[in-house]
Parts: sequence; C-alpha cells; structure tokens
Amino acid sequence: MKILLLGSGGREHALAWKIAQSTKVEKLFIAPGNAGTAAVGENVPLSASDFDAIAEFVLENGVSMVVVGPEDPLVKGIYDYFKNDERLSNVAVIGPSRDAAQLEGSKNFAKEFMQRHNIPTAAYRSFNAAQIEEAYAFLESLKAPYVLKADGLCAGKGVLIVPTLDEAKMQLKDMLSGMFGNASATVVIEEFLDGIECSVFVLTDGKDYVILPEAKDYKRIGEGNTGLNTGGMGSISPVPFADATWMKKVEERIIQPTVNGLSADGLLYKGFIFFGLINVDGEPKVIEYNVRMGDPETESVMLRLKDDIVELFEKVDAGTLAGTNITFDERTAVCVMLVSGGYPGDYGKGYEITGTESVQESILFHAGTAVKDGKVVTAGGRVIAVCSYGKDRAEALEKSFRSANTIDFEKKYFRGDIGFDL
Ligand code: AMP
Ligand code: GLY
Repeated sequence: MKILLLGSGGREHALAWKIAQSTKVEKLFIAPGNAGTAAVGENVPLSASDFDAIAEFVLENGVSMVVVGPEDPLVKGIYDYFKNDERLSNVAVIGPSRDAAQLEGSKNFAKEFMQRHNIPTAAYRSFNAAQIEEAYAFLESLKAPYVLKADGLCAGKGVLIVPTLDEAKMQLKDMLSGMFGNASATVVIEEFLDGIECSVFVLTDGKDYVILPEAKDYKRIGEGNTGLNTGGMGSISPVPFADATWMKKVEERIIQPTVNGLSADGLLYKGFIFFGLINVDGEPKVIEYNVRMGDPETESVMLRLKDDIVELFEKVDAGTLAGTNITFDERTAVCVMLVSGGYPGDYGKGYEITGTESVQESILFHAGTAVKDGKVVTAGGRVIAVCSYGKDRAEALEKSFRSANTIDFEKKYFRGDIGFDL
C-alpha cells in the first residue's frame, strides 16, 4: 500500500518511522516532511493544508491511505474533502471529520460536549465581547489563579493562567478585543485545577478503540517547569501515577463516554484522540481534547507500541477495531528535545547540525531540520527529539542526555531535568 503522511515535525518523523516498519507499506510519502523523514520515506513539497494539491498527488500516485499528523488540516476538514469527492472517497483518511475536529478547534464546543456526556472537567462558562460584565462577575466568583482560554486554535498559545483578579480582567478584555484575532472572540473561563498532567491517546474507528501507551510532556522552556510555554521540551512513557486503577477510571469515566458521545452526536471519527488529563487527588479530569497525536509524546509512545500501526489504521478505516489487543514494550521510553536558543521567542535558523552520526544509544527524530547545500541544518525552534529506551526512567534519560551532548549546533539548548517531578 502507498501511504501519504501529512506534517513536518518530530511527531511526523516518529509516525513515519513506525509506519515504515510495517510489512504492508510499499511506499511512504511525507508532505512536506523534514530532513529526518527523508530517511524513512520520500518527502513531497506540499503544504499539509493545500487540499487540492494533496488530492492531485494522491490520485496521480495511487495513494490509498492518508495519515494526518497536525490539527490544522483536520479542523479545516480534510476528512470531509476526501469523502465528498467520489474519486477520493475510498482513500482511507486517518483523522476525524471536520465536525468532530471541533473537539480541538473550539474549546467551547469541547466543554459543551463534556458537559453533555458527563465527562469530568473543570467548571466553566464562555463569554463574548457583549457579555464582558457577566464575565467579570464570573471571574469574581472564582478563586485565583484564573484560567482564560481563547475558543479557537492559537498554535498552543491561547491559554492564559493569571495570578490576580485585576490582571485576569485586563487579559480577558484584551482577549475579547482581538489578542488572538478571531480565535479569542469567544473566551472560555474555567476553574483552575491543581494536579499533575498526563496525556492519554486512543485510536478509534468511531465505535471501538484501543488505548495507546500514555505519556507525560514537559511544556515549559525552563528547568523546574519555569518560563514560557513551548510546543514541548520532552516526554516520558509510561507515567508512574497512571497505574491500572487510575487508567480504569480514565477508561470508564472519560474514554468510553467520549467515544460513545461522538457516536451519539453523529460525529464521524476515525483517528487518534488525545486526552489532555490532569490528576486531581487521584481523580482524572479532562483539561483539553486534541484530535491528533501529541508532540513530543508521539516520539515516546511510538517507541513503546509493538503492533503494526498500519494494520491498526486499516482496522480504523474499516470499522473493525473491536476486539483488537495491542501490546506495549515494557521498557521506559523518553524524549529530550533539542531546541534553538531563544525559542519559544526569536531564534536563528540554518545552523549546521553535527554529531548525529555518533549517536548510538538513542533514536533521533527530526523536528525542525532541513537540508541545505547537502548539510542538515536547523529550521525551527524544536530541532531534534533525542529518544531512548531504558529498563527504567533514569537509564533511558541518561542515554538521551549523553546523546544530546554529542549533537551540536549553534545555541543548542535542552532541559536537563525531564522527568524530575515523577
Ligand atoms: P490547553 O491548551 O487547554 O491544554 O491548556 C494549556 C495548558 O494550560 C495545559 O496543559 C495546562 O497546563 C494548563 N491548563 C489549562 N486548563 C487548566 C485548568 N483548568 N487548570 C489548570 N491548568 C490548566
Ligand atoms: N504535547 C502537547 C501537544 O501536542 O499539544
């Protein structure tokens, strides 16, 4: 089978690495990919959001499965685009329909969905600019800190956690008057939940699901979880507190009602669901849904998934996931992200990356890299995910940190404390 994977980050390199191991794959294309994905498949210079160009490529090259990495094409409706075109409707698209992708595309939609299906999450209300006085009154009824979320997609930047009421009111006003453009025309204000986060992933065919290895990611730029939010500085799987008892609660209270709720609401979903959870005194609650895999969680999760992922995708497409058992590698997998100095603010690009050929005890997934004049250079904030297995967390991390020190590029930075809080 010929498969086209959309996206260009570390998540996509990890997915490409896993897909390429399947005996079912005749050819893997990645659009647009990066310098790492070029080693496991063929990069195609197409934007993941240019549906017309993707459709033409799929038809010309006999692609029978499209796997969607990032949320943007999903929220814009790539699933529907394929299903509504009779030349393309038999191509398997791994991802939710546009309506179902609203679980990530609109925080308000996700909160209403959770409320409708009794899924545990923070108490909330949503407001637009005409309701600002009511929004102030709601803020006054809450305790600090205050959580303000832009309703729409903001590339991970739309959530503000504000320490004081006065500041919360100011930020709310700015958000409603366009801080994130149209994405913050509606703002969700919610109760602050105090706990430790965990990412849980399932693959669903819309009726049944398999639960993938869970992972924890480290979002802040600085050690000790300080400083600005990033796309993710590292990840670990498994997560110690996500034991069988906790995962049973997650499955019964969150996963089952979500999958059943999608089906009851007529929301077509054939893909990954990412549950961003928080553990509050032993009770799991949903912080957010994403309609794709996490980055950099995928880099750890793919290391632990033993099954043929393409076989799983085929079952997702055919609606035959029921009764599928999947197996995990018992070892711990970790990912330490090498980033460009200055990220998540301004940073330089085009610096040559050296030392990767000397890395032996880790698997490298490229995130922001490109090939320039025959050399691999930096091309993004997150540059390379350094992933390792270990009999435990300490061993896996030791390997990743050693490898991280072997690789070099100008202004390289990584967090040396991934896993510190577990
Ligand atoms: P989100 O984009 O909804 O995942 O929010 C980004 C981050 O903000 C989350 O990963 C949490 O760390 C934090 N966050 C979001 N909502 C809450 C909440 N209700 N209570 C505490 N922290 C939150
Ligand atoms: N690691 C969080 C995300 O992918 O959104």
